[in-house]
This record gives sequence, C-alpha cells and structure tokens, in this order.
Amino acid sequence: MESQIQSLQTKALEAIASCIDESQLEAQRVGLLGKGGELTGFSDRMRELSKEEKPRIGKVLNEVRAAVTAALETRKAALTAEREAKIFEGVDVTLPGVSFPAGAIHPITQLLDRTVRIFRRMGFALADGPDIETEWHCFDALNTPADHPARNEADTFYLPDGRLLRTHTSTIQIRTLEKMAPPVRIIAPGAAYRRDEVDATHLAQFNQMEGLYVDEDVTLGDLRGTLEFFFRELFGNDAEFRFRPHFFPFTEPSFEVDIKASALGGGRWLEIAGCGMVDPAVFEAVNARRGDHALDPERHTGFAFGFGLDRLAMIMSGVPDIRHFTDSDQRFLSQF
Ligand code: DAH
Repeated sequence: MESQIQSLQTKALEAIASCIDESQLEAQRVGLLGKGGELTGFSDRMRELSKEEKPRIGKVLNEVRAAVTAALETRKAALTAEREAKIFEGVDVTLPGVSFPAGAIHPITQLLDRTVRIFRRMGFALADGPDIETEWHCFDALNTPADHPARNEADTFYLPDGRLLRTHTSTIQIRTLEKMAPPVRIIAPGAAYRRDEVDATHLAQFNQMEGLYVDEDVTLGDLRGTLEFFFRELFGNDAEFRFRPHFFPFTEPSFEVDIKASALGGGRWLEIAGCGMVDPAVFEAVNARRGDHALDPERHTGFAFGFGLDRLAMIMSGVPDIRHFTDSDQRFLSQF
C-alpha cells in the first residue's frame, strides 16, 4: 500500500503541473481529495491495516496529502496570475486616462430654474402641453381668427395632417383649462416654433414661459403686482416697468411690458413680455369643448402672460449670438 501511495503522489504531481487552466485544476483536486477521490480512498482503507502498519502508512498518507495540497495551491496561484496578466496584455497602464470634461448648466436652463422657483413661491404650479398641436388649441380657442397672419403657412410649421408645431406656449392655457376648473394658477415653460430666418437673434425653435391665473376677483392690479415682483426678483429692485397698451387676441385689455434695469444693461427700455386679462371668448371656447360651464365670464376673471427665455438669457449672460445656445460647443457651455 505504501508504494501505491507513493506512485499516486508521482502521478498526481505530474497531472497538477500539466493543468493549463483553473477548471482542469479543480477537476484534479476533486479527483484526488474529493469525496470519491483517490487519496480519500486510501484513507478509507486504513481500517484494513494492522495496528503495527497503521501509524507508518498514516504518516506517509499525511505527507502525500500535504504535498498534493501544496502543489494544487502553487499551480492555482500561477494559473490565476497568468489569466490576469492576459487581461492587461497590450495595455499600457502608464498612459494617462481618458478625461470626461464636465460641462455646466445651460444658461437657458439656469434662467428657467430661477423663473420656476420665483413663481413657485407665489403659488404657481407647473403645467405642460404637447409641442405638436391642433389649430384649435393654438389659434381658435385663443380667439385668433382664421385670417390672422400668425396662421399663415409662411410663418407656421404645419404637418401634413393639419396639425402644427405650436407657435407659442399660450396653447397650455387651453390645455390646462380643459382639465381644471378655477382656481387655476400655473406657469408653463416650453418650446415654441416659427418659420423664422435663422440669424444671430432668431432660431426656428425657441423657449417661452407662459403664465395663467384664473379665479374670482383676479384684477389687473394682481397681474401688475405678480409680474413686477417676479422681474424684481430676477433683475433686482432697481427695475422700472412700463405697461404699454397692445393687442393680443386672447387678452383684453392687453399690454406689452418694458423693463429698464441695471442688470439688463440699464439706460434703455427692453420689451420683455406680453400680458393681459383673459378674454371671455377664451372661457367660452373652452366651455364649449368641455361641455359645461366651469368658466363663468360673469364670475371668473384671469390674467395671462408670456415671455421668451432665450433673449433674456442672452442679455443676462452676455451672449452675442443665439446660435451659441444650440451649438453644443463645450468651450461655450463650460463658461456658465
Ligand atoms: N403668446 C404671445 C406670443 O407668443 C405672448 C403672450 C402675450 C402670452 C400675451 C400671453 C399674453 O399669455 O397674455 O407672442
């Protein structure tokens, strides 16, 4: 039995040395030391030995088991090192890494975030609507007659099915009033689209912020107070305002808001926003669509306003050309 054990050792050590991967090595380990393994088999047969033989053979068996275990471990370490070395083959770990230059929050997004925060403090909720709109939501419901120049094919992107890319975010006034009854107090930022010639101050897609407040007893004074508070938060307390009478189909009376503020370069008046008291014709159009009388022109009044974000962001950030906003040039964007 002793010589059998010795020759098993020779055979095992050779087999272990010739394993070329870790799974082969594991198979060897199980074949030798596992439950039905060859060395384990000798341990089981110790019972057959005489009292005199047991200690001697036992000692040999222990020595062989220790040698085999050590050989398995050594081979395993070598195979693991070999496999890991292969992963890095052809990779120069001393080369500098790939850097991912960090951008910054886009100036329009920064302005949008500030705008939303200020209106939130006055209790305005965020509302939303689709960029692809029906003519009804974009014009008819907003009291804009069929022959209005804004409805022209030359000014508006029409889809083959008659729908269009909204020319302003005032559509969201309608989308909101279709679903909600007064009191309604919302702001709605979003993209608007016009077939403008692209140049330093025009893009065919731009960003607007719409506002709407409908309740009982909403007055022109509320409109002025809300807008003046908002723009003073944005531009500082030295801002001066001019509410110039104007015409919009969906408000009556309507105004354009001019602002003078040192944050806007001071000195000159800048036309910043359109606004007015919601025309009762808008309430009636929405009622007809809803099939109820949720908006009562005898009881409800409201104000609405809208302004563009792009030109404001240009002035506030000193950007000379609106096209920089959409160029995705990291050198531009990382400045903000
Ligand atoms: N929708 C107008 C535009 O795009 C802006 C505007 C004017 C919105 C008056 C309003 C408003 O809500 O009351 O030029």
